[in-house]
Order: sequence, then C-alpha cells, then structure tokens
Amino acid sequence: MEDRIILETHALSKHFGGIAAVSDVSLKVRANSLHSIIGPNGAGKTTFFNLVSGTLKPTAGRVVFKGHDITGLPPHRVVHLGMGRSFQITNIFPNLTVLENIRLAAQALGRDNFKFWAHYRRFRAYEERAHEVVRQVGLSGRELVLARMLPHGDKRKLEIGMLLAPNPEVLLLDEPTAGMASEEVPRLMEVIEQIRAQGDKTLMLVEHRMDVVMNVSDWITVMHQGQILAEGAPAEIMANQTVQSAYLGELYGDYEVM
Ligand SMILES: Nc1ncnc2c1ncn2[C@@H]1O[C@H](COP(=O)(O)OP(=O)(O)OP(=O)(O)O)[C@@H](O)[C@H]1O
Ligand SMILES: [Mg+2]
Repeated sequence: MEDRIILETHALSKHFGGIAAVSDVSLKVRANSLHSIIGPNGAGKTTFFNLVSGTLKPTAGRVVFKGHDITGLPPHRVVHLGMGRSFQITNIFPNLTVLENIRLAAQALGRDNFKFWAHYRRFRAYEERAHEVVRQVGLSGRELVLARMLPHGDKRKLEIGMLLAPNPEVLLLDEPTAGMASEEVPRLMEVIEQIRAQGDKTLMLVEHRMDVVMNVSDWITVMHQGQILAEGAPAEIMANQTVQSAYLGELYGDYEVM
C-alpha cells in the first residue's frame, strides 16, 4: 500500500436540522488501498459518501481530492476529476444489453479520453473499453443479455462495471452486496478484490457483512453517531475493546472472531 494520500476530509460535518449526520470527520485515504467504513444503521456512512462525492454540500469542513479542495463542487465535476460513486438505486438501463450499458457509462462519464478521435474510432474505443470492463467484472459471455434479465448478483457486477467504465481513480461502493444471496457474495468480492489487485484504484467500501470487510480491507474507519469511533487495520478493529463493546458484539454477535 502506498503512503500517498489521494483523498482526505477535514472536520467534515453535515447537519440535517438538529441531526448531526456527520460530525467532525477527518480521515485520510491512502492511494490504491481498500478503505472500509463500518458502523450501525444511521451512523452517517452514506451521508459521508454523499459529502465526498459532491451529492451533498457539507455544513462545515473540507474535502481534498488529489491535493485539490473539492468541497462543494457539484457531482459531475467530481466525477470528471476521477471519482466514481455507486448508488443504492441503480442507473442500469433495463432494456439495453450488458455491453451497451457499460459502453454508455464509458461514454457518458468518460473523462474525454477518446474525444480527439473521429467518430468511428471513438465508438470503437468505447466498445473496446466496454469489452475490457465486461471481462474485469466477470460478465464475459453475457455481453448481449438484456440487463433486466440478469440475476441480482450479476446486476451488481454490471453496476460496478458501469462505475469502472470511465476509469475513475477512486470508487465509492455503498453496500454493494445489499440484497444479494449469501452464495453470490464471494463472486462479487472476487471482482472487488481483482480491481484492487490491479493496483491503480482506490476503493472505499461501506459494507455490513463483517466477514467481507475483515477479509478485504487494508484499513477500516468505524463510525458511530456521525463520528469516528475507531480506525485501524482489520485485526486492530477486531481487537479494539471500544468497538467490541460499543458495536461489534451487539451488532455482529454472530460473527466469529478469527
Ligand atoms: N436527507 C436527509 N434528511 C434528514 N436526515 C437525514 C438525511 N439523510 C440522512 N439523514 C439522517 O442522518 C443520519 C445518518 O444517515 P446515513 O444514511 O448517512 O446513515 P448510514 O450509516 O448510511 O446508515 P445505513 O447503514 O442504514 O445505510 C441518520 O440519522 C439519518 O436519518
Ligand atoms: Mg447507508
């Protein structure tokens, strides 16, 4: 893992009326690491992603991405700087094929990598990029399947493919395994691990499945009531008494400590 910091927040806060959804959160994300955020329902994880991706404007604090202050920039600007963010509600076009969905994502959100080419060359370039991404997310052989016909687990892979298509440097994944059958989870995690293993992407993951989080993360931030409760490598988090008593035991009591 590199020491370079690609993303950092400084005293980031978001209040909704009287609720401090995110409160004074300062964290640093190392480039090309997999950095997870865990915490109980309502801890502020999704709000934090919304602040980082520009979907919400913070009440206070700053977001710095690749050394640039991006606080308050609209989401499309943040995307063009190289940040991809998944949403609970998918942006999949149900009546287009897997390949078309990914190609459109590459085109729509592309960082103009191919803009200087003539129309036909450009189309070919996006098409090639789409094939590459299809392979990367484990959907080879399903290129021509209509998105709506995919089983749930493959839809999630398609979503990750659509995020990857414009080649972002940072991916924010908010509960990618939500609603998936347990037996589908390992294959999705393989996809995420492979993206990480390539070594050129930073992944931030919000995930409730503790076995998944403990296995794949380089670093974990624990949030609780909008604040950072603890931070560390997975083993440290598992061993942390505050985390244990405040949260892990109660919420994830069925998870065996390795
Ligand atoms: N748009 C909003 N308006 C008002 N309150 C909000 C809004 N979005 C979030 N909140 C509140 O902010 C707090 C943090 O919510 P958030 O969705 O960030 O939590 P979370 O950690 O993602 O939870 P979960 O694990 O359930 O997804 C909660 O108390 C929530 O009710
Ligand atoms: Mg959430």
